[in-house]
Amino acid sequence: MQLSDIKSVGVVGGGTMGFGIAINFALWGYPTIISDLSDEVLAGTRANIAHALQLFVEGGLITQPRAEETIARITTTTDLAQLAAQSDFITEVIVERLPDKQDLFQQLDQLCPPHTIIASNTSRLVLSDIGVHARRQDKLVLTHYFAPPHIVPGVEVAKGPGATDETFELTCELLSSARKIPIRVLGEKSGYLVNRIQHAMAREASQLWAEGMASAEDIELGIVSTFGFRMPHEGPFLHYDLAGIWKWPADARNPHAIENEKLREQMLKAQPWFLDPANFEEAVEKRDREYIRRLKELYWKDTDQ
Ligand SMILES: NC(=O)c1ccc[n+]([C@@H]2O[C@H](COP(=O)([O-])OP(=O)(O)OC[C@H]3O[C@@H](n4cnc5c(N)ncnc54)[C@H](O)[C@@H]3O)[C@@H](O)[C@H]2O)c1
Repeated sequence: MQLSDIKSVGVVGGGTMGFGIAINFALWGYPTIISDLSDEVLAGTRANIAHALQLFVEGGLITQPRAEETIARITTTTDLAQLAAQSDFITEVIVERLPDKQDLFQQLDQLCPPHTIIASNTSRLVLSDIGVHARRQDKLVLTHYFAPPHIVPGVEVAKGPGATDETFELTCELLSSARKIPIRVLGEKSGYLVNRIQHAMAREASQLWAEGMASAEDIELGIVSTFGFRMPHEGPFLHYDLAGIWKWPADARNPHAIENEKLREQMLKAQPWFLDPANFEEAVEKRDREYIRRLKELYWKDTDQ
């Protein structure tokens, strides 16, 4: 199957995440059908969609006619069979409960045409468990969005245990065609990649708060005004490069404190992860220009020059 074969998509679950995921597909041209358990829930889904698109228009992201076209591309149903029959790619966005997701995957597997890919937006469960009763193991993937999903660009993508490279690549292509940034996750673990990283920070922040190290307000400030300020530009690896830590003497980089051999080797190489050392100064200047722009926008906007 190719990207051009994905003519129509389905979203099962029209709650907090489902309505935004549907907006994203519909905004970029895909006829989208959403199913949920009752017409009452779906009325709320449609109201959320209209409101979110109105904010896009007010924010200057899209025009009013584009918002209307997007709404016209979205249909809703309480009939799962109807959604299954007309969707080439389905995203499951229902309650985070394993038996419910297993049941749904089994039903979709029976109802959908053979070519349909089924994706889960689970935050904490894994595909090996969710898809255990489905026969189409080659067509099960994770697409994990981040709230609000019609706005946040990155989406984690991971294969189910039997998924093919074709399914994985096509899913990445589909997301790219809807202006999302696919993040390729190569393994399977509860919380996959991004939630494990952000939860590690949240765990430490909560622990420090509970120990009385700082108020909740100061912990927020400590994150938002320091490494959070840098984060739109750099993660930990690019930070290592741009802060010039790779240039430090080996003992100052403290490689002996690192238990993992692969990581210790990398730290001992004394080389950046991404940058060409010859372009170091240029990259630092580019970063600083970007930070100055953000400093002005976020913190110094009322300051005279
Ligand atoms: N909320 C977040 O920030 C977030 C972020 C990433 C991933 N997720 C994941 O997305 C999924 C949905 O989360 P949410 O926050 O949108 O939940 P939600 O409760 O807002 O929405 C779930 C929707 O699914 C419907 N539903 C439940 N069982 C169903 C079924 N069998 N068939 C059809 N519809 C059914 C419910 O009626 C509800 O409208 C979960 O797996 C969650 O872990 C949530």
